[in-house]
Amino acid sequence: MQSPASSRPDPRDALIVGLDIASLSEAEAMVRMLGDAVSFYKIGYRLAFAGGLPLAERLAKEGKKVFIDLKLHDIGNTVKEGVESIAALGATFLTVHAYPQTMRAAVEGRGDSGLRILAVTALTSYDDHDAAEAGYGLAVRDLVRLRAEQARAIGIDGIVCSAAETGLVRDVAGGALAIVTPGIRPAGADAGGQKRTLTPREAILAGSDHLVVARPIIQARDPRAAALAILDEIAAARG
Ligand code: C5P
Repeated sequence: MQSPASSRPDPRDALIVGLDIASLSEAEAMVRMLGDAVSFYKIGYRLAFAGGLPLAERLAKEGKKVFIDLKLHDIGNTVKEGVESIAALGATFLTVHAYPQTMRAAVEGRGDSGLRILAVTALTSYDDHDAAEAGYGLAVRDLVRLRAEQARAIGIDGIVCSAAETGLVRDVAGGALAIVTPGIRPAGADAGGQKRTLTPREAILAGSDHLVVARPIIQARDPRAAALAILDEIAAARG
């Protein structure tokens, strides 16, 4: 029988550190500085197009988990083939836009690899006006709900959503999908342009499984101490 302590999920699995760093050597230095405090990294446009994909492969080989945040969207065949290549890097998470055709192709490309597909329902920079301007006849919250329902039906593994939408997405997804939430700010941290932020504790209590945190860690005077403080907050919120 497992002891309660060993059955408790490792809080490090819930903290994804965004490597939003322009240079490969600085990203590698950050990973070394964070050491065993961090086990999950996100690589987005900035680093991916500056040598970040070979770094993702190296991190995965070293036992870290890697989230490739490239938000794919193209014809089905191209998405499927791109997803197959990303699965071969050993990545754990990959984002795609939540268009049904794109999500179906991504699930096909993922196959039975270890890669898990996250759908972006509606970009958090979009409000109802932006959605209308882009030709949608739905308010953003209705679009998020529709796409979360479709993601679940298609067999997507998780949803990326803003802190403000976590409750809505959890209602739609039940326990079936992982919820990944950016826009996290420890109490007292600079919002840095994020408009609707939650603290790590609030995000966990709202139902997030994984928190994406970049600047509050990578721009901290002591990044490792900042990461450890967030891990403590996650563990405390889980009780
Ligand atoms: O520095 P900060 O913690 O605000 O970074 C959040 C990370 O999450 C960035 O990499 C950003 O691109 C990403 N992200 C986000 N909002 C989304 C999706 C991703 O802030 N809706």
